[in-house]
Amino acid sequence: MKVNELRESFLDFFKERGHRIVPSSALIPRDDPTLLFTTAGMVQFKPMFAGTVTLDYTRAATVQKCLRTSDLENVGKTARHCTFFEMLGNFSFGDYFKKEAIEYAWDYSTRVIGFPKDAIWVSVYEKDDEAVELWNKHIGVPGEKIVRLGKKDNFWGPAGDSGACGPCSELYLDRGPSYGCGDAECKPGCECDRFLEFWNLVFNQFYQDTNGALSPLPQTGIDTGMGLERLATLIQNVETIFSTDELMQLVNFVCRESGVSYEGKNISPVNVLVEHARALTFAMSDGAYPSNDGRGYVLRRILRRALRFGRQLGISDPFIHRMVKPVVDIYGVQYPELLKSLDNVSRVLQGEEVRFLETLENGMDRLEEGMKSLQGRGEKTLPGKDAFILYDTFGFPLEMTNEIAGENGLAVDIPGFDAEMDKQRQRGKQSWKAGDLGIERLFESASKEAGDTAFRGYEQNSVRAKISVMGSEAKLVKSLLAGEKGFIVLPETPFYGESGGQVGDQGLISSEKGAVFRVDDTRKLNKTMIHVGELVEGALSAGDEVTAEIDIVRRNLIRANHTATHLLQASLRRVLGDHVHQTGSLVEPERLRFDFTHFKALAEDELMQIEDLVNDVIWRAIPVNTQVRDLDEAVKLGAMAVFDEKYEDKVRVVSVPGFSMELCGGTHMDNTGKIGAFKIMREASPGAGMRRIEAITLKGVLERMKANGAIVSSIMGALNATESEVLRRVSDLQERVRGLEKELEKTRTKNITADMDGIIARAIEVSGTKIIAHQVAGAGVEELRALADAIRVKCRDSVVCLGSESNGKPMLLCAATPPAVGKGVDSGAIIKKASPHIGGGGGGRKDMAQAGGKDAKGIARALEEALKTAQSMLGGQ
Ligand code: SER
Repeated sequence: MKVNELRESFLDFFKERGHRIVPSSALIPRDDPTLLFTTAGMVQFKPMFAGTVTLDYTRAATVQKCLRTSDLENVGKTARHCTFFEMLGNFSFGDYFKKEAIEYAWDYSTRVIGFPKDAIWVSVYEKDDEAVELWNKHIGVPGEKIVRLGKKDNFWGPAGDSGACGPCSELYLDRGPSYGCGDAECKPGCECDRFLEFWNLVFNQFYQDTNGALSPLPQTGIDTGMGLERLATLIQNVETIFSTDELMQLVNFVCRESGVSYEGKNISPVNVLVEHARALTFAMSDGAYPSNDGRGYVLRRILRRALRFGRQLGISDPFIHRMVKPVVDIYGVQYPELLKSLDNVSRVLQGEEVRFLETLENGMDRLEEGMKSLQGRGEKTLPGKDAFILYDTFGFPLEMTNEIAGENGLAVDIPGFDAEMDKQRQRGKQSWKAGDLGIERLFESASKEAGDTAFRGYEQNSVRAKISVMGSEAKLVKSLLAGEKGFIVLPETPFYGESGGQVGDQGLISSEKGAVFRVDDTRKLNKTMIHVGELVEGALSAGDEVTAEIDIVRRNLIRANHTATHLLQASLRRVLGDHVHQTGSLVEPERLRFDFTHFKALAEDELMQIEDLVNDVIWRAIPVNTQVRDLDEAVKLGAMAVFDEKYEDKVRVVSVPGFSMELCGGTHMDNTGKIGAFKIMREASPGAGMRRIEAITLKGVLERMKANGAIVSSIMGALNATESEVLRRVSDLQERVRGLEKELEKTRTKNITADMDGIIARAIEVSGTKIIAHQVAGAGVEELRALADAIRVKCRDSVVCLGSESNGKPMLLCAATPPAVGKGVDSGAIIKKASPHIGGGGGGRKDMAQAGGKDAKGIARALEEALKTAQSMLGGQ
């Protein structure tokens, strides 16, 4: 069976048995911020297993795209490890359980794909007598082929930090003693290649919470997983996953295009390229991009590793991006989403490749040298500092350095690396205005002492409350006096603490006794809001009753920019496509900044379309809804979530009906009309595969109009022109300036050449050749050339050395006529000797050479040197 026939046969088998065929979910789990990637078929069904969501079906089967990086370092070094793989799985949500799951697996393995019954072994969780019983009595697997294993092997833990879990049972194929270690006791669980596990049946019975505690699930479930590549290896009877039909096509592509051979094919760098290019193509087409943290850094590690192995094959040009097309050609039928993003993915990859290849060679040289000298000294550990320099300067992920060191019998001092990283973080850390690094710790103690703050700012602009905790710049304090800077924590507040890209509120906290604390910023730590500022009048003590009131105009500007950010995201997706996802956002009173995934600069008309669309929604004055919902429900309704954000079970959903729906904790206008107007100011790229838009709204638009108006007025004043005349006047002026410049040049050349006779008269003559050395005030290189040419025409046997200073920059030029060159004059050599005097360098031909420099004071000395050199070339003194 070909791989594609396998996919079909698996789904058909389970469809016939009442399973709903569900498409693979994306590699980025949309509703599970605790997982970087989809690691198993069950990930999209986590809520169904947990019993929090019910569907109109209770059994399902999938072919699921998965990515796991736990084995990254093994890829290419073994026959069967990969990062990306496809998992065949059948699932039951409160429907069938162990008995049917075991029957189905046995039936499919022996009848459909035809594995010999006596070659199948099974493992079960050591305490699961029921499973042993089923395999033995019901199916007829002999007792000696049923192996009991412990929790490590046969208990499936939850995907992510919590979820369904339970004991499992695995099916193994005995490939015969020739694959084995020879040990008489060899059986499933042994490290050798004889017994290959191909199917894992998980009997979901428990729910594990984030603390690791187990509780029984409201309903049992089945979650099975079978690695497609591994299964194909067994069925097609080949030695490695890379020799199965689909992956082999990629292997052939690499060999054909790069001219490398597939020698030692089981363990080959070619396999690394194939596996990694496929993983990157899949992950990126689902919206992950290489970057410096989280998911993006995983991709960066994969790509950089591929480039390192490419180097081993002698491939030094960007190559991985060229593999995207062949990957899509093979997998596009099964996964049409690949087709949509083909160009985007290969372009971003190419950019990434180019960038890393610039430093890879130097980094490798440095690392190899370092390792050699360590080995020479008999040392076994690469210092953390070296690994850090490789990371910081040459872009080597720590894991990659570690892997290379390992290949050379060395370890890396990881704590040393972490310490260097920490030091760098400290250096770059933003601190509270006063620049005190201890402030974060101080906020932490304040948060611990005060507990959560109730945020009232969605509905209220002011609240009355008693101060729970206060601090100065240095420590927690019981009171603050006028003139002191510090912070205040209240049990409830209308002040929004900086989070989700929205800046903190400003305003006043005042007491009836006349104390006024100016809030410059509000920070949020855990769930505590911290009002940071200065006590401008009176005195305040912990326990005092105060009124906290936000600066409402500033907050409204923030609201406008935040709601506009949502409209912008929705418009971007409409105009550019669904691949647009938020990667960053900043919402300030003055402007908004939105970063998103997209592969090329936006065209003028796209920007205009987006701007128009946002303004249209604004001027339709649509009410903005905010609702608190269950996370699962919100995601099901299609609310946009930020990939890396951690959401709680209850989330706020902000929607502009019919246009935008996002999970968001920020503050918004209650009607789009209140945004007033929206104007894009800038479009740029903050990194590979990303774009950034900066825009303004409401007062920002008016301010910009005023500023532009002021500029236009002052230009009008200076030109003494009306608004409608301004443009024409400027172009008239430009034309006049161009004309004047030309005239000036002519006059200058005339002046210079007018003095020519005087210059020639001062020439020194050696062996019949006139040597002229002369400094011309304020001439540019064109003028020097004109003068030298004019002299050469007049004196048929001459060497002309000229120097000048123009706009503070010194310049030298030397020209010689053919007779002078015939006598041994070399202008290039003259310039080479003279130019160091002006702090520069240059050269040229024998008949013409020039140089620029930095030190205009040296022109006279340079000309003297030129003169002397020419003299000696002509045999003079
Ligand atoms: N969740 C299990 C696994 O990934 C079975 O699908 O192995």
